[in-house]
Amino acid sequence: MCGIFGYVGKRTDAGVIAIDGLKNLEYRGYDSWGIACKDGKTLDVKKDIGPIGDIQSDQFGGKACSLSIAHTRWATHGGVTQRNAHPHLCEDGTIAVVHNGIVENYLELRRDLKAKGHTFQSETDTEVIPHLIEEELKKTGDFAEAVRTACLHFDGRYAILALHTESNMLVAARTGSPLIIGVDRQQNGIDGYFIASDIPAFMKHTRVVQYLDDGEMVSTDGKTITFQDIKTGDKRPKREIAITWNVEQAQKGDYEHFMLKEIMDQKESVARAVNQDEGEIRTIAEAIRRAKGTFLVACGTAAKACMAAEYFFSVVAEHHVNVAPASEFKLFHHFLKPDSLLIVVSQSGETADVLEAMRVARDKGSKVLAIVNVEGSTIDREADYTLLINAGPERAVPSTKALTGQLAILLLIAYALAERLKEGRTLLLETTSSLNDMLNPRFVERLETLAEKIQSEEDLYIIGKSWNYPMALESAIKIQEVSYVHAEGFAAGELKHGPIALIEEGTPCIVLTGNDEALQDILSNAQELKARGAMIIGIGPKKFDVFDEWIKVPEAGTAQAILNIIPIQVLAYFLAVKRGKNPDMPRNLAKSVTVK
Ligand code: F6R
Repeated sequence: MCGIFGYVGKRTDAGVIAIDGLKNLEYRGYDSWGIACKDGKTLDVKKDIGPIGDIQSDQFGGKACSLSIAHTRWATHGGVTQRNAHPHLCEDGTIAVVHNGIVENYLELRRDLKAKGHTFQSETDTEVIPHLIEEELKKTGDFAEAVRTACLHFDGRYAILALHTESNMLVAARTGSPLIIGVDRQQNGIDGYFIASDIPAFMKHTRVVQYLDDGEMVSTDGKTITFQDIKTGDKRPKREIAITWNVEQAQKGDYEHFMLKEIMDQKESVARAVNQDEGEIRTIAEAIRRAKGTFLVACGTAAKACMAAEYFFSVVAEHHVNVAPASEFKLFHHFLKPDSLLIVVSQSGETADVLEAMRVARDKGSKVLAIVNVEGSTIDREADYTLLINAGPERAVPSTKALTGQLAILLLIAYALAERLKEGRTLLLETTSSLNDMLNPRFVERLETLAEKIQSEEDLYIIGKSWNYPMALESAIKIQEVSYVHAEGFAAGELKHGPIALIEEGTPCIVLTGNDEALQDILSNAQELKARGAMIIGIGPKKFDVFDEWIKVPEAGTAQAILNIIPIQVLAYFLAVKRGKNPDMPRNLAKSVTVK
């Protein structure tokens, strides 16, 4: 997802702040970037493709400036070129706009604007926005109103941030992607406002935020701020919220990459996830028991947590739940009733497919429980009830610590449903303590050596059974996305129905095991692979002859999935690094996926 940043206020280093803000949004992934600073009466614009790199404040933005906007772009409409990078300007250069999302009817708008004499410099859908605002501004002379009425012409879901040099204002509007306002309050009152697509962009300067809701806009000149409904123009009250996590949690510390830091964070983050209010967990378990159908819905890694939860609910609580990827959920709307329950799971709390699933459920009158990491995110705010994962900020694109927190919470709920909450909590706390012991330097080194050994392999397969099956699928995602090695996960018993044909002499196959009833079956499946020449890497509490390599993981009973996925995360990290890839920012991926 694109990154948006803006500042207006008393500070005179708005260019430097903007560069810094963009760098703090880099983790979301991007292919080009741009900054516009008000320089006297005009705008100083710098854009480029590729990484922001070492751009220094004296090269750009070093001049005194108190109004800026900036953007990191993921190309959708128009290729990755300097011209297509945001900000885009209006005809007379007084309005600059950055944008996340898609203006679906941009071709039609562009044609009309051209007929009125507007010229376009890029191939983007975004460029119609500043031109349209310019047209609207001619009518009233009020910038905020011009942005509002321009928004009424756009089809699609978006977040936009517009700057106007004449009125010295920033105006932002959203109908989809997130926008958050940072309040720069000093001793003498308000010093300015930040507007960004994520909190780390301005966290260094303030931890007091206001969230813009869907269908709302905000306008500020750095002294005052007004929230309005886009459709009606009616003013909206807005609460200020203090962020509880700190800057250090959002930084890399001594680690080379966020991914490794976040893997290590799991020593504490899983325990934080487990530390839920017992009464709340029991209430949720009761709601699941009473619901006419419980649906677990998420995307990507979070969807694998839901799949694992299906086994947790079955094995621990003997309770049936339905699991679907959020992008498929709409097709099952017939099964939703007012007394059904939708449980959505999301790290970012902004995933478009999940939000869509929630809307489908709401239309049917069903209640929604969200298990979310980012407090104040759209999913958190739109759900009827939220459990926070409390993993702390996850900045590497690959999800690691959010997943283990999700698994822990879902398992805890399953135990509550079985009326064995205390036992579940004890098991999970023991598991977090094992996790702490396991993630030691020797363990990490062992996986680095294994990564070194298999780094040149083109294909890698992972098998699992029971909750280790979704973990095999998750293993494949983790390895694919950061190392670009072709990795696939299978239900172990499915091998003989097709995939085993892929195995050749030396093909590395990872076998996820637990000390459970699935063990004998999966060892037989590992034998089948070995008989075809596979190199077997066993992950689990016990060593077996069939393993060529064994990564020891403590025994954790029904919580085994939480521990088994951790060596995979470390292995994927080192595979990426050894293959010269940046695991924090995989190609073609964004941290939160706000488009369907
Ligand atoms: C993979 C990954 C993605 C996300 C997915 C859902 O490592 O991070 O597959 O899990 O895009 O995102 P959230 O959890 O933010 O809804």
